[in-house]
Amino acid sequence: MNDDYSDKNPALGALFVEHIETVAARHDHALELAGASHAIIYSGNPKFAFLDDYQMPFKPNPHFVSWAPLTRLPYSYIVYTPGKKPVLIYYQPRDYWHVVPGSPEGFWTNQFDIRVVHTTDDVAKHLPRNRDNCIIIGEIDDDTNTFGIERVNPTTAINILHYARGVKTQYELAAMRLASRRAAAGHTAAEAAFRNGLSEYEIHRAYCKAVSHTDPELPYGNIIGLNHHGAVLHYTDFDRQAPAELRSFLIDAGAVVHGYASDITRAYSFGDQRFQDLIDQMESLQQDIVSRVSVGVDYRELHINTHKMIAQVLVDAELAAGDPDTLLETGVTSAFFPHGLGHLLGIQVHDVGGFMESEGGTTIDPPSGHPFLRLTRVLEENMVLTIEPGLYAIDMLLENLRGTPAENHVNWNTVDWLRPFGGIRIEDNVRVLVNDRENLTRDAFAQL
Ligand code: GLY
Ligand code: MN
Ligand code: MN
Repeated sequence: MNDDYSDKNPALGALFVEHIETVAARHDHALELAGASHAIIYSGNPKFAFLDDYQMPFKPNPHFVSWAPLTRLPYSYIVYTPGKKPVLIYYQPRDYWHVVPGSPEGFWTNQFDIRVVHTTDDVAKHLPRNRDNCIIIGEIDDDTNTFGIERVNPTTAINILHYARGVKTQYELAAMRLASRRAAAGHTAAEAAFRNGLSEYEIHRAYCKAVSHTDPELPYGNIIGLNHHGAVLHYTDFDRQAPAELRSFLIDAGAVVHGYASDITRAYSFGDQRFQDLIDQMESLQQDIVSRVSVGVDYRELHINTHKMIAQVLVDAELAAGDPDTLLETGVTSAFFPHGLGHLLGIQVHDVGGFMESEGGTTIDPPSGHPFLRLTRVLEENMVLTIEPGLYAIDMLLENLRGTPAENHVNWNTVDWLRPFGGIRIEDNVRVLVNDRENLTRDAFAQL
């Protein structure tokens, strides 16, 4: 696959036909169980800042994006009727304040019966006449956008669609490989900027330039932390000045291709060998966990196994002492690794359906004591998920261990050593296969 991210990419076009068949089949099933004849998928509309005429960056309805790679098309609708070519009501307003969507173009157009409209009144003409047979899927903050359809996001249909989205089509996998490629180029540029002593803000700009994204186009706000900032899990402040002394760099940043995200984290040492050794240990732990990903594996077990392996890293690095089970039970590993091992990835960075046991809507809880784990499902072929173990010096969490049985298991002098480096997280995007896996992230770096 080349790195053509455009909607002219012929390789994506070849896969898109089958993708639409799959999405249509999911909607056939959802409509049948919801007892309706037409699914209307609304793309969404921009939101306004409070008491202001300023529009927030537009975030499309992910259900709409699963039908078509149209991430900048507010006030538009897909009308799906089983057995019929889906209708795309393509809203092209007459507006001289903003850029309006151009003529529909790209590998996806053949799969739709496209009706370009210029007013919202024209939208109504292309919707099924009998609104009682319709369900509408989308974020509705203004009733006029439902055009009289009363069944908004019925749970039965939403559960079916969310559960199904956990498994990716070949088209989605191809888009996600490209998203990984795009982000890998950004990570390479960001590492170079770090090695050249640039500030967090400048590293961020180097990343955005390399991936060719504006800030709102990123899948999530870049996390770019030098030194102790690496310990703030969602650090997005970007100091404008480089620190006087450079020690470490943590970057968690992704990219988007046709609405599909990548989500990649790397950690670097600026020459300190002891911190580099810790990164190397976390790297081999992360690769070990990745190598366990395959069909039938319970992700909750991967998460718990990661804690046991982190316990060993803590012992080897002299950050803690004790056997792995004790370090787990006393909360030592959770203080150093306080987030989940990972999550489903797709149109949404934390993709939907991570807790679903079935399409009926029953859910699987995270293991007790691990409330931040966002994926509890047994892995299926062609799921894409992240594997992102971390290890940080977070004083707020470590201080909670004082006065508990955990306190004596922590080597506080080594915590003092780690604190100025912040922390480590290594995150890859992995596709699940039978007795195997595809590491989209490592492949992307290798192909640069
Ligand atoms: N970048 C957010 C996450 O890793 O989940
Ligand atoms: Mn991430
Ligand atoms: Mn992630």
